[in-house]
Amino acid sequence: MTIITIVGARPNFVKIASFLSELESRPGVKSILVHTGQHYDPSLSDLFFEQLGIRKPDINLGIGSGSHAEQTAKVMIGFEQILTEHKADCVVVVGDVNSTMACAITAKKAQVRVAHIEAGLRSRDMAMPEEINRLVTDVISDFMFTTTQMANENLKAEGVPSDRVFLVGNIMIDSLVRNRSRAEALKSFATYGLSSKNYALLTLHRPSNVDDPENLQRIAKALESVHTRCPILFLAHPRTQSKLIQAKVLAKVNENQPFVETSFCRLANPAGYLEMINLQMNAKFVITDSGGVQEETTILGIPCLTVRDNTERPETVTVGTNQVIGTDPSRLVDACNKILSGDVKRGKIPDLWDGGTGKRIVEVLLQKLRV
Ligand code: UD1
Repeated sequence: MTIITIVGARPNFVKIASFLSELESRPGVKSILVHTGQHYDPSLSDLFFEQLGIRKPDINLGIGSGSHAEQTAKVMIGFEQILTEHKADCVVVVGDVNSTMACAITAKKAQVRVAHIEAGLRSRDMAMPEEINRLVTDVISDFMFTTTQMANENLKAEGVPSDRVFLVGNIMIDSLVRNRSRAEALKSFATYGLSSKNYALLTLHRPSNVDDPENLQRIAKALESVHTRCPILFLAHPRTQSKLIQAKVLAKVNENQPFVETSFCRLANPAGYLEMINLQMNAKFVITDSGGVQEETTILGIPCLTVRDNTERPETVTVGTNQVIGTDPSRLVDACNKILSGDVKRGKIPDLWDGGTGKRIVEVLLQKLRV
């Protein structure tokens, strides 16, 4: 049985590690790992493979950056060729990035069954490219592996037959459970001159937050007062760094220094997986627009402020430590000040976010494919 697994961008790597090792431990499975090359910077890709113990991909399409259409099209052309060379029984895609949707469409049109890990998440925000990717991927997937009951309900409401949907839990948490003690042993915060529980960690990369220079300037201005009360460590994605430079909020990040001190933050390059977990567990609170960070802070019990108007991960709010505070910078400052004055949201861990998701997926998938 031949199973092709697709990864393309940073969050995919965190989601594939446990699934792949579980899959490749089973007899009778030929596993092919394809990296589309959507993320190619060593700090966003190679480092994650190394730290998460993911083997080298069998094929790298090397598609790189580009507009959405360009990226999607390049993945589809490259992946179609692979499907003609390798007769696959199933293509496994994860998450919601452009590579996920592109490979799902290509496989389905080649009459290959598609399994989607992390299916059924919905923000109901069609301005997010990821929401379009999720909807398209789910509508053509044969097997949908969901993180929560809410995701099952979303799929049911869209008319997806229940025999295609499997509630297996959160695959991203498998990586966290496996690597928690290694991350705990680090002192990554010290690299930035910070001490444990004495800083806020910030990540922002969504187009809605970073593409408009005036909006970025407003966020930077608003965070100045927070940064004077509690240092903010801003780990900026390459996309965000170029937008910060365009908005004249930042001159270039100096490669030879761990961070640049600005009026509103200590700005640094993205961290590796283990360092990022260490930085989250030691933060007083986290400010983000990332999906995965909302989930990781819930497991780690760290208060999280999500700078978006919605979330496709509502359990992080109803059960976990997350608060969706919208994109108005003044609300962000109010929320930070509330936490700094000791008003902190506590949470619990959602069901099945337990580290056993990869195993559950492989069991269901192999059983279904063998029928
Ligand atoms: C992608 C995903 C997003 C995910 C994020 C995590 C889509 C639609 N978006 O967004 O869901 O949360 O990854 O990181 O697939 N760049 C580099 N080096 C790289 C990769 C990108 O410098 O290795 C720069 C390029 O200038 C590129 C920009 O970042 O144009 C955006 O990259 P892209 O892959 O298009 O989307 P992300 O914003 O990374």
